[in-house]
Amino acid sequence: MESHLGISISNLSRRFGRTTVLERISLQIARGELLGLLGPSGSGKTTLLRIIAGLEYQYEGCVMIDGVDASALEVKARRVGFVFQHYALFEQLSVFENIAFGLRVRPRRLRPIETEITRRVQQLLALVQLEGYGKRFPHQLSGGQRQRVALARALAIEPRVLLLDEPFGALDAKVRLDLRQWLRQLQRELAITTVLVTHDQQEAMQISDRVALMHDGHIAQVGSPTQLRDAPASGFVQDFLG
Ligand SMILES: Nc1ncnc2c1ncn2[C@@H]1O[C@H](COP(=O)(O)OP(=O)(O)OP(=O)(O)O)[C@@H](O)[C@H]1O
Ligand SMILES: [Mg+2]
Repeated sequence: MESHLGISISNLSRRFGRTTVLERISLQIARGELLGLLGPSGSGKTTLLRIIAGLEYQYEGCVMIDGVDASALEVKARRVGFVFQHYALFEQLSVFENIAFGLRVRPRRLRPIETEITRRVQQLLALVQLEGYGKRFPHQLSGGQRQRVALARALAIEPRVLLLDEPFGALDAKVRLDLRQWLRQLQRELAITTVLVTHDQQEAMQISDRVALMHDGHIAQVGSPTQLRDAPASGFVQDFLG
C-alpha cells in the first residue's frame, strides 16, 4: 500500500448493537491539513474522532496514521492530542502539571528528564500566551485561558495528529473568534494534521483547509469551503449550509 502521511481512513464502519453509527467512511486528511468536521447532532463526528484517537477500537475498516495501521499502535504511541468541548483539565493539578501530564505518564525510558519537562512546559506556556500562569490552578483561569491550557496539554506530547471536538463550544463569541484565529495560526506554524469538530459553520468555513459534512454516519460531502458553498453535492448539504 502506498505510504500516506496524515490520516487515511478506508471503509470505516462502527456499530453499536444493531445501530450503524458510521457506515463505510473513507477519508484522506493530508499531513498538516486542518479538516473541519461538521454535521447534525448524532451524525457520528465524536465517534469518528474517538476511533482516530484510539479510544474506540471496535470498528471495521482501516485507519492509518502517517502510514501505520492505527490498530497496531497503542493510544500512547499514536501521538494524538485531543481537546474536548468541556475543558477536561485536572482541577487538582496546577497549570504546569496539567501541561506536563502527558510527559509524566510515559514509560520511564520515554519520559523526559525533569529539566526537559520544565523547559517544554515553559515553551508551551509561552506558545499559548500564558507565561507566568504555571502555578495557578484551573479554577483561577478564565474560560479562554483554560481552553488554551487544554491545547498546550494536547501539544505537550508533540502530537502528529490533533483532534479537537468543539473545543470552543463553551466560550462567548468574542473569545471564540480570537482563539479560533490563534489556533489556526499555531496549527499552520506547527503543521499538525488536525480535525476540528464544530457546530459553528462560520468557524469551519473560516479556518478549515477542507470541510467534511457528516450526515447519519456518512460523509455527505468533503471539499474546500468554497466547493461546499458553491457546489453542494446534495439537497442535504445545501439545506445544512443554508
Ligand atoms: N456508546 C454508545 N452506545 C450506543 N450508541 C452510541 C454510543 N456512542 C454514541 N452512540 C450513538 O452514535 C450516534 C453518533 O454519536 P456521536 O457522539 O458520534 O455524534 P456527534 O455527531 O458527535 O453528535 P453531537 O454533535 O451531538 O456531539 C448517536 O446516535 C449516538 O447516540
Ligand atoms: Mg459529538
